[in-house]
Amino acid sequence: MRVLVIGGGPGGLYTALLIKRRNPEAHVTVVDRNRPDDTFGWGVVLSDLTVANLRAADPTSAGPISAALHHWDDIEVHFGGQTIRSGGHGFSGIGRHRMLAILQQRCRDLGVQLFHERELSAAALDRAVADDGIDLIVAADGINSAVRNQFAATYRPEVDVRRCRYVWLGTRRQFDAFTFAFAETPSGWFQAHAYQFAADTSTFIVETPWEVWERVGLGEMSAKESVAFCEHLFEFILQGAPLHSNAAHLRGSAQWLRFPRVTCAEWVHWLPANDRQIPVVLLGDAAHTAHFSIGSGTKLAMEDAIALDAQLANHAGDVRTALAGYQAERSVEVLKLQNAARNSTEWFEHVDRYALLAPEQFAYSLLTRSQRISHEDLRVRDAKYVEAFERWFAEKSGLTLAPRAAPPPAIFTPFRARTVTLANRIVVSPMAQYTAANDGMPTDWHFVHLGARATGGAGLVMTEMTCVSPEARITPWCTGLWNDAHRDAWARIVRFVHEYSTAKIGLQLGHSGGKGATKKMWEGVDQPLPSGEWPVMSASESQYIPGVSQIARAMTEADMDRVTAEFVRATRLGLEAGFDWLELHSAHGYLLSSFLSPLTNRRGDAYGGDLAARARFPLRVFAAMRTEWPPHLPMSVRISAHDWADGGNTADDAVEVARLFRAAGADLIDVSAGQVVNHERPVFGRMWMTPFADRIRQEACIATIAVGAITDADQANGIIASGRADLVAIGRPHLVNPAWTLSEAARWGYAGATWPDQYLPGKAQLERLLARERAAAGVTAVAAGPPPGELT
Ligand SMILES: Cc1cc2nc3c(=O)[nH]c(=O)nc-3n(C[C@H](O)[C@H](O)[C@H](O)COP(=O)(O)OP(=O)(O)OC[C@H]3O[C@@H](n4cnc5c(N)ncnc54)[C@H](O)[C@@H]3O)c2cc1C
Ligand SMILES: Cc1cc2nc3c(=O)[nH]c(=O)nc-3n(C[C@H](O)[C@H](O)[C@H](O)COP(=O)(O)O)c2cc1C
Repeated sequence: MRVLVIGGGPGGLYTALLIKRRNPEAHVTVVDRNRPDDTFGWGVVLSDLTVANLRAADPTSAGPISAALHHWDDIEVHFGGQTIRSGGHGFSGIGRHRMLAILQQRCRDLGVQLFHERELSAAALDRAVADDGIDLIVAADGINSAVRNQFAATYRPEVDVRRCRYVWLGTRRQFDAFTFAFAETPSGWFQAHAYQFAADTSTFIVETPWEVWERVGLGEMSAKESVAFCEHLFEFILQGAPLHSNAAHLRGSAQWLRFPRVTCAEWVHWLPANDRQIPVVLLGDAAHTAHFSIGSGTKLAMEDAIALDAQLANHAGDVRTALAGYQAERSVEVLKLQNAARNSTEWFEHVDRYALLAPEQFAYSLLTRSQRISHEDLRVRDAKYVEAFERWFAEKSGLTLAPRAAPPPAIFTPFRARTVTLANRIVVSPMAQYTAANDGMPTDWHFVHLGARATGGAGLVMTEMTCVSPEARITPWCTGLWNDAHRDAWARIVRFVHEYSTAKIGLQLGHSGGKGATKKMWEGVDQPLPSGEWPVMSASESQYIPGVSQIARAMTEADMDRVTAEFVRATRLGLEAGFDWLELHSAHGYLLSSFLSPLTNRRGDAYGGDLAARARFPLRVFAAMRTEWPPHLPMSVRISAHDWADGGNTADDAVEVARLFRAAGADLIDVSAGQVVNHERPVFGRMWMTPFADRIRQEACIATIAVGAITDADQANGIIASGRADLVAIGRPHLVNPAWTLSEAARWGYAGATWPDQYLPGKAQLERLLARERAAAGVTAVAAGPPPGELT
């Protein structure tokens, strides 16, 4: 077997030595355009887990690699004049130069042929294939892979050049923790990622958004000047130690790169050669990249090599199957890391967004930025840090704790809006039940359904979308609030909640608009009624499901006056019914939402056009309700923060919409997404809409409710503790378990939740069972995130 490896970085060298080790008779060659001791960059980070993988794959090279590792456990965040430290993360640093020297030596010892200062052009590749009888080409030629570009039609690469510019520097300053430092200039924020990788050397990467970089004038500076700028800016952690560049020959601007996020649809190209086809397989940065803020590029490249070698061994003589297996296995792993890396990259691209947080919360947000390290993962890593943080958070939320009392997890802290204080941060998300009597009257179903969820421990129980008129209903079985009989039925439910639970109860008011007159959810979501339908209207003439839905007519100004009055009437009736909280439903493509989106609002009058004009009618309705609803009670607004369709609203628009509602007197934005147009292409995942709640909270400076695939208290704690939202709404899990809040409290070992007296024996039994289960499994904590060192 003859193998040609293009690129002598960690990925290429490791592939070569693994293949040669397993097949001593194989002819393995590595070519690299650089000299053997040339290297960009300084040190790289490896997790403890990656080191264990290397030990299993090739103990001989793992020995000197392990010996050269500089290990540390802590992460330190320098922000706003404070230094915050958390432990248990477990990383090692190694000089890239040292790592390459070890791998090169191991290659030589095994008989791999190394050729340096040899650039492989496209012509050279053809020649190698034709003349040398190569069986396999491994393209490990790095982030700007020429091979990837040459066969782009097969690999179909996507390269997303990110917002920040960064420079990779080194310093003799020794850091005893992975150090993140943040420095503000009049032009914007800079951050440093620093870690020690040898007895006397540390990597020091400085990063800033490109706009800030330009405003500061770094593009015009020489390399020396830009290093001096960084030294001055980060003097507070460098403490006089100079910074060094190992690319000093480059102009200042050329040293500052923008990180490209690379993905490839295919990883194998088959190159015709005489009567054969030679596979050219991508590996490492050539195939994919993961932002350096999660320190995983070298790990991914070396683990690619391990997988490729294992697949070739498992399918000896069948290279096609081996390479298909390699791509299938690695592309899944890479995708997981790239998703985490995307969150991390975006966090560092928007430091200005988080800079308003208190240093304690800023640091917590940084530690959990990838959304893969949860609150309980942090507790497993450093229980003292988490306890101190929870104490800080609880006191900030208004609790006074005795010095020795254990602080409650973030979701069990109170939240105050105007004069209403919620006992905790969990909301029963509004969920239509399609079980009203035919005239919009709430039934015993609603009494039991909402009552059970109130006694189940949530801080706030929200009604389903309650409609302001018969025509405002989604289905004939949706609840309404347009007459005194409705008011009295709702008042009975409100009285129960107030008398028998600690929960507050909110009323969600809405109008279905063009999505009205449809069937019950379980008979066909958004499908038109077979009979008994009523005419529907929307911002503009439209049809939600093309060829299926009823065609909605465009609203007139007289319609707007009437609908506004209906919302005001429902507000007054809601107040009389005793509700604590009012939410305006302006999401999901219903009437008010249809005004906000440019995809559904094509009006030429004052209510269509730019965002301010499109928001005019929803704001008018909100303002009229706010006047009717007393100033001491809170109001939230539910919006769709993204339309998930070309030309539709995006998170940028959502921030602006939130600002407009805040100015009109909204206290919170309940941040949902989508359902505005039928051809939407949403991107689902765990906590998938939380990033919108986060953005709106930081940028529009208004409290938010996060919702969407938040399924356990650990996730909810992370969201509240990091300041991504102020409340967490739980929908479908509450359909399964009315006592979701109380059972999650027991599951995560929090005894302080208030259970109804009637249910206390159930609490005691549940806690005992869960404690026994934990003891049987031999665990004291319930976290299940990545092992320490895998991700920060
Ligand atoms: C600022 C920064 C910090 C980083 N920090 C970390 C970290 O902490 N931890 C971590 O794991 N990773 C880190 N990385 C990423 C890491 O450096 C890469 O992911 C890793 O080096 C990828 O290995 P590779 O072998 O795929 O590619 P590379 O290391 O880039 O090697 C590619 C090789 O191919 C050679 N080559 C290219 N074209 C040709 C050609 N036509 N002919 C011959 N030779 C060619 C190049 O000279 C190079 O030696 C960081 C990256 C950056 C930019
Ligand atoms: C059966 C059902 C009915 C819903 N009805 C409403 C509603 O009336 N008003 C609303 O704003 N959202 C409604 N939603 C959306 C939920 O409030 C919530 O945003 C969504 O289910 C995502 O949260 P989850 O992943 O926790 O379920 C409904 C969802 C479900 C499953």
